[in-house]
Amino acid sequence: MTPQKLLLLPGDGIGPEVMGEVQRLIDWLNAQGLTQFETETGLVGGCAYDADKVAITDATVAKAKAADAILLGAVGGPKWDPVPFDVRPEAGLLRLRKDLELFANLRPAICYPALAEASSLKREIIEGLDIVIVRELTGGVYFGEPKEITDLGNGQKRAVDTQVYETYEIERIARVAFELARKRGNKVTSMEKRNVMKSGVLWNEVVTRVHANEYKDVKLEHQLADSGGMQLVRNPKQFDVIVTDNLFGDVLSDIAAMLTGSLGMLPSASLGAADAKTGKRKALYEPVHGSAPDIAGKGLANPVAMLASFAMALRYSFDMGKLADTIEKAIANVLDKGVRTGDIAPAGTKSVSTSQMGEAVLKEVQALHG
Ligand code: IPM
Ligand code: MN
Repeated sequence: MTPQKLLLLPGDGIGPEVMGEVQRLIDWLNAQGLTQFETETGLVGGCAYDADKVAITDATVAKAKAADAILLGAVGGPKWDPVPFDVRPEAGLLRLRKDLELFANLRPAICYPALAEASSLKREIIEGLDIVIVRELTGGVYFGEPKEITDLGNGQKRAVDTQVYETYEIERIARVAFELARKRGNKVTSMEKRNVMKSGVLWNEVVTRVHANEYKDVKLEHQLADSGGMQLVRNPKQFDVIVTDNLFGDVLSDIAAMLTGSLGMLPSASLGAADAKTGKRKALYEPVHGSAPDIAGKGLANPVAMLASFAMALRYSFDMGKLADTIEKAIANVLDKGVRTGDIAPAGTKSVSTSQMGEAVLKEVQALHG
């Protein structure tokens, strides 16, 4: 087995705490000879700003490009509200996505049976839910130019963000969604606002054409993104794979997270194009949740989304699907046994700390491994 290079970027807030639980799991896997990960740690976000006055250094970006995969915790927090916009913590994450061309963001939302009660929705609406949001990640209003605030000189300012998509960007994300659907429930729902936005008109047109030319065997539906959001909370089990742009994907995936009980449960994978020679993709794995500064450093954070993000790394970057299955099964078993961090514990019941949850998952992995 050749060593695999993992770059760990814990980031800010609860990032280091949840990353610590992944590190614990990696140490055990390495000790068992099940994996040979070489881990290196770097700074991104507010912590990078504190150290170097940038949200990520060129050296860390270079390390990210050289790694086989990147695991990221979370970035941001009120501490950095005063810093200039271009070096705010989020800029570090956005630069990684853009520089590594991680255009495909996969956000699975699974409702573990044991957690149906933790959702704000009724059990029958979400029990057994298994959907994936495929969010375009390197285009749209996140990166479109111009992006600026102009002083109009009359006491007024004008702020502009630009939503822009080109054909190839829509084609490649559509293909990711259709390929994924073929391995799952064989259905794709595309969401945009073609009734208001030109980019929505093009999005709809391109997804329809890619489907007709290459993926006729997959069922395709279109929904307007606002109505799609409503459907996500009304009847989420109608979906299999949802494909949408960067901003709608950001919003819809937070909604999807709550279907699963807590934002602390949702992992994600951000993938680049497959290399023509090696077939390998650049990849970054991170929880959907943020840095939760209000609970940072208190041992209250739920490490499940981070651990499940590591499982996605095993599956998508290292072809270790079986080990990924084991970790996901371990998470499900731990939840079945009633182990809960505060975010998923019913009011008035006992909850465990971040490290107790991490330890419980590791023990379960060990037990499953025999
Ligand atoms: C996410 C986050 C990021 C985003 C922030 C931290 C820049 O909310 O990954 O969903 O808006 O994409
Ligand atoms: Mn978000």
